Amino acid sequence: MTKPRVFVTRLIPENGLEMVRQEADVEVWQDPLPPPYETLSQKAQGMDALLCLLTDKIDANLISAIGPQVKVISQMAVGFDNIDVPAATAKGIPVGNTPGVLTDTTADFAWALLMAAARRVVEGDKFARAGKWKTWGPIDFLGPDVTGATLGIIGFGRIGQGLAKRAQGFDMRILYFDRRRHPEAERKYNAEYADLNTLLCAADFVSLHTTLSQETYHLMNDARLKLMKPGGILINTARGPVVDPEALYRALASRTIAYAALDVTEPEPIRPNDPLLTLDNIIIAPHIASASFQTRAKMATMAAANLIAGLRGDRLPNCVNPQVYAHNQICGSHG
Ligand code: DGY
Repeated sequence: MTKPRVFVTRLIPENGLEMVRQEADVEVWQDPLPPPYETLSQKAQGMDALLCLLTDKIDANLISAIGPQVKVISQMAVGFDNIDVPAATAKGIPVGNTPGVLTDTTADFAWALLMAAARRVVEGDKFARAGKWKTWGPIDFLGPDVTGATLGIIGFGRIGQGLAKRAQGFDMRILYFDRRRHPEAERKYNAEYADLNTLLCAADFVSLHTTLSQETYHLMNDARLKLMKPGGILINTARGPVVDPEALYRALASRTIAYAALDVTEPEPIRPNDPLLTLDNIIIAPHIASASFQTRAKMATMAAANLIAGLRGDRLPNCVNPQVYAHNQICGSHG
């Protein structure tokens, strides 16, 4: 019996790849950079499934180019804003993602950015390496205390709540804003719901944990950055376009806010001539919040499990468009 054909858009951890190899004929894009859009579009044609990453633009054109035989698009990430999910749904293609497994790893990294920004760890490192460390300076490298400060969390899903859990250990006052209230998490993490403007005015640290949507695109614009405290620190481990980068540059350069620490940028990767790179009150990491050995291995396994389920015609363990099953015979309860 011929095996189904799968295109994997980059080298992923071996455990996931091996699972897919057991099931299918696999072509893996070996280049360290993602396949260009046209190449991806050509490669995808005739494939039974795609295992893709957040760096791949899977738009409506690409989805229609793949052909009617495609059974599943499995993304190795929790976010899927790179995929035109309605277009996939319209064609009855289930789309998988990898929620849950990266919650702690990402919350750890948001916390690391928060601490590093407050206590100017990266600036200190650059200073020491540049041979500028001449003595202990009583007024050098001062930053705000984290312990006892107010943390504003925008987007109170799994990762936002993970950050709240960490902040509890630092006796922080926790405010959160979300589209809906989370009463259980409020009690668990002693978190107070606040509207967005109240949160921005009151928080010493603002951490973003929303999905990227039309609603959240450039959520942090000039007006909202101006609401933050002058000593305020902005953390973004969500998606780059949640922050307007030009507004952020203005806010940091004019010291409207004190500092930013980003794991995600708009665009990604950040351009070498981006004005944000000229500032000393910003930390920029290359989208690595989920990059632990264990978590990336789990993400690969989950993406492989979704892909294999799709190839077999089974319900994906983690499906972002369960509506596809309403029209198919593979009905079952979706958790
Ligand atoms: C995701 O999964 O969406 C993260 O951005 C990368 O792990």
